[in-house]
Amino acid sequence: MNQAVQASPLTARRAGVLTGRARVPGDKSISVRSLILGALAVGETRITGMLEGADAISTANAMRALGALVERTGDRAWRLRGVGVGGFAEPAAALDFGNSGTGCRLMMGALAGCPITVTFDGDASLRTRPMRRILDPLEKMGARTLEIRDGGRLPIVIQGARDPMPIEYESPVPSAQVKSAVLLAGLAAPGATTVIEKEATRDHTEKMLKHFGATVRVASLGQHGKRITLEGQPELEAAPIVVPADPSSSAFPLVGALIVPGSEIVLEGVMLNPLRTGLLVTLKEMGASIEAVEPRNEGGEDVADLRVKAGALKGVDVPAERAPTMIDEYPILAIAASFAEGVTRMRGLKELRVKESDRLEGTAAMLRGNGVEVEIEGDDLIVHGKGRAAGGGLVATHMDHRIAMSALIMGLGSEQPVAVDDAAFIATSFPGFTDLMRALGADYS
Ligand code: S3P
Repeated sequence: MNQAVQASPLTARRAGVLTGRARVPGDKSISVRSLILGALAVGETRITGMLEGADAISTANAMRALGALVERTGDRAWRLRGVGVGGFAEPAAALDFGNSGTGCRLMMGALAGCPITVTFDGDASLRTRPMRRILDPLEKMGARTLEIRDGGRLPIVIQGARDPMPIEYESPVPSAQVKSAVLLAGLAAPGATTVIEKEATRDHTEKMLKHFGATVRVASLGQHGKRITLEGQPELEAAPIVVPADPSSSAFPLVGALIVPGSEIVLEGVMLNPLRTGLLVTLKEMGASIEAVEPRNEGGEDVADLRVKAGALKGVDVPAERAPTMIDEYPILAIAASFAEGVTRMRGLKELRVKESDRLEGTAAMLRGNGVEVEIEGDDLIVHGKGRAAGGGLVATHMDHRIAMSALIMGLGSEQPVAVDDAAFIATSFPGFTDLMRALGADYS
């Protein structure tokens, strides 16, 4: 289903300097959640600043197929009329989530408490990703898996529970998607559904559920953990959503500006939710010049403009506990680490193996193919930074937007150009990436 029509190779060459101001697209996690909660709420939800990337669009299409009204009303402006908790209609065909793990997994949760049968599918990348982590708790709540491919992969047919049961669930993996799926399933269950997480992950689902009127209690658990409890069967009421700029997307121009000598850029309105800022913490430890100016609040999130200046970076040790706050940022951190002096050890990256591609192997291969010394030791990635990268490689992106963008940033600072086999998947999370980077001074052809 939904394969990329044609591969679209692209090459990045050493840039002069990167200068100017830019605003990256809306946050992917918040955009996808706003479509799902808007579809579950009663009344009209208006979204501004929406990410109009393929992942959000496939989620929007799924909401339509389930009976919600979803309309684009202008540039990044969307309107939804939801069906109410438990009100989704059985779709006529399989729901195709394309490349979007978040859309697919959260919707498995949202549908687990509706008495309908739904087929979930996606592209070749999504079809390789593990879904048992989502189905295990949902089955405890009463959903039934009617069909599933070997290894717990898509396509999967789920029959939602007529009378879903609330559960208390401790996820064996630190995953916002697992947490969110259980909470969304808990909407249709009577009483309290609780998720326990040993390591806190992004909290957008909890915050948005509250914003739509649900009762959610959050208690700290130990140093890094949380206990999140949702009161089931709320009346979700439509509420306006303002989507801030995606910190995971801003990471690419940001690292570009750090590694291209003489660069200075400003990235506008970047979300600074502390569960998403692990990369900024790490880059500052490496000596990066990143200043947050004009701090403000947008749609319930702290945001600021980030002023970024090129400069010398040094290798650091990145603790495993930080991983959930920067889980999508390791490929681009590995690029920064290549241009740093000294060793950067990134610990505890097991989850990178089950992203849009095996990002642990993919990141190591990207570096190795461009003359950077790198090792994988257990779940750790170790980059031997020499303050430079030779470049000259062709990077296999494996349908992974973040590998593609990381390679295209690397090529702006490396001695020889860096090419990618396919830049098409960048549109899943960052439509307009090449134009935005070119406007800052990047050389892509
Ligand atoms: C996301 C959670 C993370 C992240 C993904 C978006 C979300 O996945 O990698 O890009 O929006 O909840 P996991 O929950 O699998 O860690």
